[in-house]
Amino acid sequence: MGRITFDHTGKNVMVFGGTSGINLGIARGFAAAGARLGVASRSQDKVDAAVKELGNDAGPALGFSLDVRDAEAVKTAVDQFVAERGTIDVLVSGAAGNFLAPAAGLSPNGFKTVIDIDLLGTFNVMRAGYDGMTKPGAVAINISAPQSWIAMPFQIHACAAKAGIDQVTRTLALEWGPEGIRVNSISPGPIAGTEGMERLAPNAEAAEASKKAVPLGRWGEIEEIADMAMFLASGSAQYVTGAVIPVDGASGAGRSLGNR
Ligand code: NAP
Ligand code: COA
Repeated sequence: MGRITFDHTGKNVMVFGGTSGINLGIARGFAAAGARLGVASRSQDKVDAAVKELGNDAGPALGFSLDVRDAEAVKTAVDQFVAERGTIDVLVSGAAGNFLAPAAGLSPNGFKTVIDIDLLGTFNVMRAGYDGMTKPGAVAINISAPQSWIAMPFQIHACAAKAGIDQVTRTLALEWGPEGIRVNSISPGPIAGTEGMERLAPNAEAAEASKKAVPLGRWGEIEEIADMAMFLASGSAQYVTGAVIPVDGASGAGRSLGNR
């Protein structure tokens, strides 16, 4: 089966949480499509490794070691990126933390920690990114999850955080649409080779059960999420905004309330 290759030559793309897993895959997709990248996450080592591999003919990648819970640090990184590159054409917010914990055993700080990374972090990234975004024309992509509309035991923190992220997406699409900024969420199903699935399906039995629950019979690939990001940032998606788009092999469809 053929894949469409999108051309993002010369676009300036910033990916928060873009140093491993799905978000690094998205950054790789944009780099291969000719974009100039900036990536940010906590670990300096991960940032350095990503920067090394994401440079291309359009220019070197820029890296920022920061915590998305720190609004000042996010703002400083955005300002540095814009000072170097002039503008942000595509802004991706994908930093997240998750672990399995029963609600009755989860400390308030455990709950807050995931809300702060996922939801407050997404607000911080969108809020700081707004000033530097190309108007009209910029595209923002928030990385959500099926937890946003499917309640899952032992993930009260992630369910609440991702539901909030999708409302951030919809609200910003309303507020920023008139300025020509599109805002969407991508909601990946279970994706192979990621930290997320290491944590949510930590043994072979759990992994097998999870695969069986996907109508397409397999976990997704990181590149399949990157493909959706390439599409959303392209001219082929010019009327797509305020959407939460599952890329999940229909794993969420049977439990959908109609708002996937
Ligand atoms: P991952 O490899 O752990 O990616 C998380 C990224 O965010 C890393 O680059 C991490 O780097 C960064 N990060 C974490 N906390 C941060 C913080 N406080 N400040 C700044 N950066 C931070 O996990 P993944 O499984 O690929 O997940 C990526 C995204 O996809 C997440 O939004 C996740 O919720 C979503 N998702 C994943 C799946 C799946 O199957 N894996 C399914 C649905 C949705 P540092 O450690 O250097 O900070
Ligand atoms: N079960 C229950 N509570 C947990 C927990 C677990 N597995 N892991 C952490 N917590 C709690 C801690 O006990 C602490 O609460 P307390 O102060 O009441 O004890 C709180 O969460 C913060 O923990 P801490 O380790 O200080 O957080 P951190 O900011 O250093 O790290 C995490 C954030 C916990 C989300 C960490 O797992 C992380 O960095 N994850 C990023 C990678 C990831 O999750 N990838 C998958 C993305 S879907």
